[in-house]
Amino acid sequence: MQVKSATFVVSNSEVAKCPNTMIPEYAFIGRSNVGKSSLINMLTNRKSLAKTSGRPGKTQLINHFLINKNWHLVDLPGYGYARVSKKDKKYFQKFITDYFEHRQQLVSAFVLVDCRHEPQPIDTDFMEYLGEHQIPFSIIFTKADKLKPNALERNIEFYKKTLLASAWIEFPNYFISSASNKIGQEEILAYIDEINNNFEQD
Ligand code: GTP
Ligand code: MG
Repeated sequence: MQVKSATFVVSNSEVAKCPNTMIPEYAFIGRSNVGKSSLINMLTNRKSLAKTSGRPGKTQLINHFLINKNWHLVDLPGYGYARVSKKDKKYFQKFITDYFEHRQQLVSAFVLVDCRHEPQPIDTDFMEYLGEHQIPFSIIFTKADKLKPNALERNIEFYKKTLLASAWIEFPNYFISSASNKIGQEEILAYIDEINNNFEQD
């Protein structure tokens, strides 16, 4: 798929205020600084459609971008921990969970993880949360330019092995990306295009 047009639509702190157009939507989520906004710019061939920063916490709102006038990309803030005193339980920001639980247009999520890191509980917890809510998702291993091919392959194998050794029955669909080297652009856009085409046929 060629990205012919990409425009910023709106930023929101509440899912209820998000655009009510019934077009397919894809959301990018993951920890702060993992490269969500950079990936959106890379996918759309735009330098600063989504705002990026070296400092974590740049994206604070739910940001909608309209692509090729017929689908939405959504840039989200990083998820994080909040401590609940009673059970010391970790959870995700309410407006993020509200988004995932109530956004009807959401077709699929992309959970971004840094390819250099071992599986982190916050990420696997979020993937489990998506699974519990029957929200389809793919994993994107970001910043692939930071590793040599062998190390990258080893890390992904380790990631797979670790998840499959826990409660996971199968490893999710996944992509490898680099915003600096445009790795993954074609594959991720082709994947979205295929889903969009199925939508049009329905
Ligand atoms: P928040 O909005 O804070 O949640 O962060 P984010 O996930 O949107 O990350 P962002 O895209 O702002 O990128 C964070 C930092 O990582 C920036 O300094 C980027 O330049 C850098 N970065 C993002 N993607 C890549 C990549 O593929 N390769 C390299 N080398 N750096 C990257
Ligand atoms: Mg961001």
